[in-house]
Amino acid sequence: MCGIVAYIGNKQAQPIVIKGLKRLEYRGYDSTGISYFDEDVLHTLKTAGKVSDLQAILTNTPENGATIALGHTRWATHGVPNDVNAHPQTSNSGNLVIVHNGIIENYASLKKELQYRGFTFQSDTDTEVLINLIQDVQDKEKVKLGKAVQIALSQVVGAYAIVVFDRQKPNELVAARLGSPLAIGIGENEFFVASDATPFVEYTKNVIYLEEEHLAIIRRNKAIKIRKIKDDLEVEPYVEKLQLSLEKIQKGGYDHFMLKEIFEQPTAIKDTLRGRLLSQEGVITLSSLREHENRFLKAKRILIVACGTSWHAGLVAEYLIEDFTRIPVEVEYASEFRYRNPIIYPDDVVISISQSGETADTIAAINIAKEKGAFVYGICNVVGSTISRITDTGCYTHAGPEIGVASTKAFTTQITVIALIGLYLGKANGTLSRSQYQEYVIELESLPDKVESIFASQSYIKQVAASFETSQNCIYLGRGYNFPVALEGALKLKEISYIHAEGYPAAEMKHGPIALIDKEMPVVVIATKKGYYEKVVSNIQEIKSREGRIIAIVSKGDIQVKELADYCIEIPDSSESFVPILSTIPLQLLSYFIAVKRGCNVDQPRNLAKSVTVE
Ligand code: M6R
Repeated sequence: MCGIVAYIGNKQAQPIVIKGLKRLEYRGYDSTGISYFDEDVLHTLKTAGKVSDLQAILTNTPENGATIALGHTRWATHGVPNDVNAHPQTSNSGNLVIVHNGIIENYASLKKELQYRGFTFQSDTDTEVLINLIQDVQDKEKVKLGKAVQIALSQVVGAYAIVVFDRQKPNELVAARLGSPLAIGIGENEFFVASDATPFVEYTKNVIYLEEEHLAIIRRNKAIKIRKIKDDLEVEPYVEKLQLSLEKIQKGGYDHFMLKEIFEQPTAIKDTLRGRLLSQEGVITLSSLREHENRFLKAKRILIVACGTSWHAGLVAEYLIEDFTRIPVEVEYASEFRYRNPIIYPDDVVISISQSGETADTIAAINIAKEKGAFVYGICNVVGSTISRITDTGCYTHAGPEIGVASTKAFTTQITVIALIGLYLGKANGTLSRSQYQEYVIELESLPDKVESIFASQSYIKQVAASFETSQNCIYLGRGYNFPVALEGALKLKEISYIHAEGYPAAEMKHGPIALIDKEMPVVVIATKKGYYEKVVSNIQEIKSREGRIIAIVSKGDIQVKELADYCIEIPDSSESFVPILSTIPLQLLSYFIAVKRGCNVDQPRNLAKSVTVE
């Protein structure tokens, strides 16, 4: 995945593009570049590394007054991250430059054909093939840039979000997308194009989310023209109002976005519940469910597709929806589902869960489910994202932008939405009694305060983290609803601190993992009161007798586990079904403090990108 920013208008373009690229570094940060057109000269500067490295290079170049520029921050898919493979990529004529997010799958055959016609290539990228293909069309067909891009794209197999500039037409940008997002900001006599709206949030609130297989021709001081790439029809641009503020995408005084996002969870959960949960009246209003209630109630099965942390939320959903509704639920990794010829019945309901709404595997799984006639419900955070648009209906988590690569508030708000769905359906089909339903509804409303109260243990968790800073491995154990939390805790630790960590259902210990326990091995056990407490206590005893170092997450007032564990972090009591929203919080903080102690780049861990738009 990569980040794209382009600007055309009456301001100095370079600082706008650079600032925008910094905001998009969550999408990739292994190399970066910018092209700008100044006094009839097209300048392109590229470098391996981060946007700050590019900025350093730019400070050594003369000031420029360019009012058109396009930039890119890359997460390599074709070719190693280096200066040459960085974007923008330039065509052989030197006239055209492109920034691209996505993968051109048939690039090898296209490249061969172009080489046969005399084109040469400097980089290993599929993107350089695409820009030369556009030049080839221009040369052969003698058409305008927009048309040339359109013809070239119709020969391409794969995914793309692109912006193209032709120095012979210096008042125009052409943007197009298929499978990767693009937002166009419309200011006063200026336009912005970016992978999401964050780069232009302080300049305009008017945005067009470019649709799949649409192409936009953006000319200085002219109205935008949008065409469908395949059937060449002009479409009316649909301008939306941006619901995003600058404050929300900045660190707000925290050292890292991840920490900020951990602390935002009480508010994020409130926002998820806002207008949907009227606890006193005992009412849950989810219009997407109300309108399609029968699809859910008649479903013989619910399938959940997701990846990573969202898949862990899916596992919680399996437990919760089955408990509340008695409708069977199966959870699948979207990346497996899409390739294994799954059996899907037309009366299945498929729920896709995704923070970004752009994860390629989840999108592919949705498309398969739709092809087979299933009804697809999307749980997404990013408003206007691809998944929110291709699903039959769905529900936003409203967690606000999540910039840290490690998901935190996305997870707890996804579970909040799942709780709303489970309660709504459980009430509708009568599997929850009136009193059970009412108790859950009231408890759900109390969760933000309970999450808030866990932050009081922050400095203790920091101390615990200091004792594990040099660990090389770690095991996470939980049972029932806390099993997905164990998986999520382990994922958080490994992705940001690079400590090898594994999550297991606690009862599986005896089938293998127990062999790993010795006095060097930290074992994080989630041992909250409700659920299988006594059984987990037995598991803790087994670890203790093999000298493992135990960090336990326990319910407030616990006595038994405190006698066994080396460290105990308390969380408020809650019903079993909602405990993941609470028990995951100390694990997020633990991973965060360990990673900081180890000097890791918490918000941008190596080899990772915020949303994975490639398979
Ligand atoms: O945007 P999505 O929720 O679809 O992303 C899926 C995974 O890539 C994501 O949850 C990833 O595992 C987390 N960022 C890890 O913290």
